[in-house]
This record gives sequence, C-alpha cells and structure tokens, in this order.
Amino acid sequence: VSLRPYNTFGLDVRARYFARFASADELRALLQLPQVQAAEKLILGGGSNLLFTQDFAGVVLKNEIRGLEIISEDGDAQTALVRAGAGESWHGLVEYTLDQQLSGIENLSLIPGTVGAAPLQNIGAYGAELRDTFDHLEAVEIATGEGRVFSAGECGFGYRESVFKNVLKSQFVVTAVVLRLHRQARPNLQYGAIADTLAELGIEGEPTPQDVSRAVVHIRRSKLPDPAEIGNAGSFFKNPEISQARFDHLKSQYPDLPGYPVPGGVKVPAGWLIERAGWKGLRRGPGEGTHGVHARQALVLVNHGGATGSEVRQLAEEIISSVRQQFGIDLHPEVNIL
Ligand code: EPU
Repeated sequence: VSLRPYNTFGLDVRARYFARFASADELRALLQLPQVQAAEKLILGGGSNLLFTQDFAGVVLKNEIRGLEIISEDGDAQTALVRAGAGESWHGLVEYTLDQQLSGIENLSLIPGTVGAAPLQNIGAYGAELRDTFDHLEAVEIATGEGRVFSAGECGFGYRESVFKNVLKSQFVVTAVVLRLHRQARPNLQYGAIADTLAELGIEGEPTPQDVSRAVVHIRRSKLPDPAEIGNAGSFFKNPEISQARFDHLKSQYPDLPGYPVPGGVKVPAGWLIERAGWKGLRRGPGEGTHGVHARQALVLVNHGGATGSEVRQLAEEIISSVRQQFGIDLHPEVNIL
C-alpha cells in the first residue's frame, strides 16, 4: 500500500500491511491477528508529524474512530466536557466546540492532524497548549488490548512532550480525548500577533472565540504552507532551550536574537537561528527544486514534489550542524522520523 495519501509530507513510501479501525473493539480485533502481532506497528492519525525515510516493513493501523459529543452529566455551570474520537480531525473538533459556544481551544485552530495525535506531543500554538484544557484520554494497551484512562497528570505533558513519546512510546493507542472547555469566552491574547491581526481584520472590542479562531487561521495561512499544496509537517524542529548565560553571551553578538524565559533558561526560536544561518527559502533538487526550507517560516521543511524522505532528513542534518557551528546550539527534530 502506498502511504502517500497518509502523510502530509506527501512522501511515496510503501507499507507491508495497512488496516483501518473505527472503534476500540475493531482495534482489539486487529491486534489479535497473528500477522499484526508479529509485525512492527505504526498507529497513524493524520500523518502530519511524520517523515518517512524508507518503506515501512510492518503494519500501519489507521485510527478512524469518530464521534464528537458533550458529556453533559460531568459539566458544571462554568465548564463542559467534550469527548472526541481519536480519528476526528483536530480542526474539526475546534469548529465543533466553537459551534457549541465553548472556549478554550480556539488558539489551536487549523493545526493539521487528528485528535488522537494531539496529546502525544501536547500540541501548542499561539499562546495555548493542549494540556491547558485536557481532562483525560482513553487508550488501548497494544500488548493486552485492555482499555486504560490517563489523567492529565499521568500523561506527563511538557513542551511538545508526553509519556507517549518517551516511557510509554508505542505501547498505547489513544482512542478518545476528553477536554474541559469554558462556557464563557476567555480570549487568550498573550501571543501579540493575535491582537494585531484582530485589528487588521477590523474586529473591535472583546473578541469572541470565533474571532480569535479567525485571527489564528489568518496568521497560520500567512506563514505556514498548506500541506494540501506543499508537503510539510509543520515545525520540523523544537525551539531549543538554552541557559541564561549562553543566551546573554549570544545576545551580545546578536542583539536582535529573540528569547522567551522558561524555567531554567531561555527558549529561542529555531526559525530565527535557521534563518540567520542562511537557510530560509533554500530549494534543492532538480528543476525549481524538489525540497527545501519554507520561504516564510524557516522552521518548516517542505517537499515541493518529488523529494524523498532521506533527502529531507539529509537537509535537516545539515541545518543542525550549521546551527551548531554558528550558535553552539543543538536543534532537535520535532517531527517523528521513521
Ligand atoms: N522567526 C524568524 N524567522 C523565521 C521564523 C521565525 O526569525 O523564519 C522568529 C521570529 O522572530 C519570531 C519567532 O521566531 O519572533 C517566533 O516565530 P513564530 O511565532 O512564527 O513561532 P515559532 O516559534 O517559529 C512555534 C511553534 C509553532 C506554532 C508557533 C506559534 C514550535 C516548534 N513551533 O513556532 O508550531 O504554530 O510557535 O505559536 O514550538 C508546529 O509545532 O508544527 C508548529 C507550527
């Protein structure tokens, strides 16, 4: 089976076996098949955070569990619990919550991928992260087929991190995510460009969640390539954290280096480092170039068409060593490289 339609980088790799499941029970049934038990397994959501560098010799299991509902009995006057099937599109969930007059994930509008993938890397953007509204998730253990509920604390969320990326990697399949959202609008305008964009869009006064969502969609469309048009997986690298001392030293050499305080140091934008190292807008490969660094956001590597995953990985490695050489900072991929 070609995985090309199932990864937003648009890479044409093949999987030995491919199956879909639309419920936790269908997943359990698949996990009992001998071919599935024997093979390496890849649980696929929207394929929006993956770089395939070779064919996949195992079985790809595509999560297509649907369902969006408000769990009314657990809500209260201020909040409502929303339960979403892991195979729903993340942005579809955002739109559903806006239709239901709920606030909390509007800043996370238009993030590609599925609901089930969101907790794995604690998706975040424009001043919000999944963990801010996350209540719990439901999962199935691959080894036993047993269901298990994970509270927020048990998920070990960090910056683009969770237990499902480290200690529990490849052990559970997320089947549903439950969020606690606010019935009253709580506009989160921490990220400065949102207010500027609201003004640009002619929105005055206290913005509604729909307004904030519109602003975020506008910002994303202006900077980030649409995977339907240009293959990509969003930010390719995490923004690195460095010590205050290292930051002060770099700042004396590069006065316009941006930095955001975090516990234990300063987070610096990888996009800035990559741009300053001269990579922004680079194209490689025959003709106009098959792959490269996005011209409007240097943190995003792109497949213009016809690139291989190995070529993209090679480019990423060169970027890592050039940033290390110029700034003494190690970049780490945010994308899952297979
Ligand atoms: N910058 C540059 N050049 C660039 C890109 C960025 O100089 O080419 C500098 C700008 O000065 C800007 C700063 O970097 O002040 C931050 O840029 P931006 O706000 O665009 O965000 P980012 O740090 O590059 C992160 C997330 C994005 C998220 C945005 C907005 C990570 C790895 N990435 O990017 O997430 O949308 O913030 O909150 O944390 C993703 O994870 O796939 C993703 C797109």
